[in-house]
Amino acid sequence: MSERFAERVVLVTGGATGIGAASARAFAREGARVTVVDVNDADGEATAGEIGGRFRHVDVRDEDAVRDAVEEAVRDFGRLDVLLANAGIEWTKRIVDTTLEEWERVIGVNLTGVYLCCRFALMQMVKQGSGAIVVTASPHALMTVPDAGAYAASKGGVNALTRALATELGVKLLACQMSMDVMEVQREDLIENVQDVVGVAAFLEEAAHSKITLFI
Ligand SMILES: NC(=O)c1ccc[n+]([C@@H]2O[C@H](COP(=O)([O-])OP(=O)(O)OC[C@H]3O[C@@H](n4cnc5c(N)ncnc54)[C@H](O)[C@@H]3O)[C@@H](O)[C@H]2O)c1
Repeated sequence: MSERFAERVVLVTGGATGIGAASARAFAREGARVTVVDVNDADGEATAGEIGGRFRHVDVRDEDAVRDAVEEAVRDFGRLDVLLANAGIEWTKRIVDTTLEEWERVIGVNLTGVYLCCRFALMQMVKQGSGAIVVTASPHALMTVPDAGAYAASKGGVNALTRALATELGVKLLACQMSMDVMEVQREDLIENVQDVVGVAAFLEEAAHSKITLFI
């Protein structure tokens, strides 16, 4: 096993379960010091324990909690090399049936959460002059199905946000959209292929050296 992430400091949001947990394991297998960030304490602690990383309870909508998580990683390890901004919630309801409260919850976690995590991670990455951010969007950002309006809007916002960050920072944005075929793929297949996420982050790091890169 290669150790592409030896000594690298990695923060994975939504790392308690699913794609985030599989990514956290994959980063750890390659030598990274991983902090799992989530609101699911039981699974978050279990994932972190399994990989010799640590868990931090953070609701990604909470500005202070996100800032503290980034600052803690930097205080303890001296830097932040990779952010996987992955925490998200699914939502299945037609727009006309979606209440404002429900809408704000989906946008809050899926879009505002990504904004906050990117903002505080980038403050550190700009300071240290390097870093890689991988954001989990969705095919729904480009083309969606009935009953997924709030989710699609949140993921479309994530794509636009990532592009905007790249232009603001004048950094490289490597955008990859999964094809619509992916929507037919089972969630388990996505999780099995999570090594791709780690590969992307490794590529960004290698390609970037003294630069920051972003990936959707
Ligand atoms: N599963 C799919 O088919 C699929 C496809 C494309 C994109 N995605 C995206 O991938 C990401 C991960 O999805 P998954 O399928 O692994 O789902 P999942 O539910 O297993 O993982 C999402 C994690 O985010 C955490 N989370 C939810 N709200 C949070 C909050 N406010 N603060 C911090 N953590 C929070 C959950 O506790 C959970 O651990 C999501 O952003 C999802 O939209 C999923």
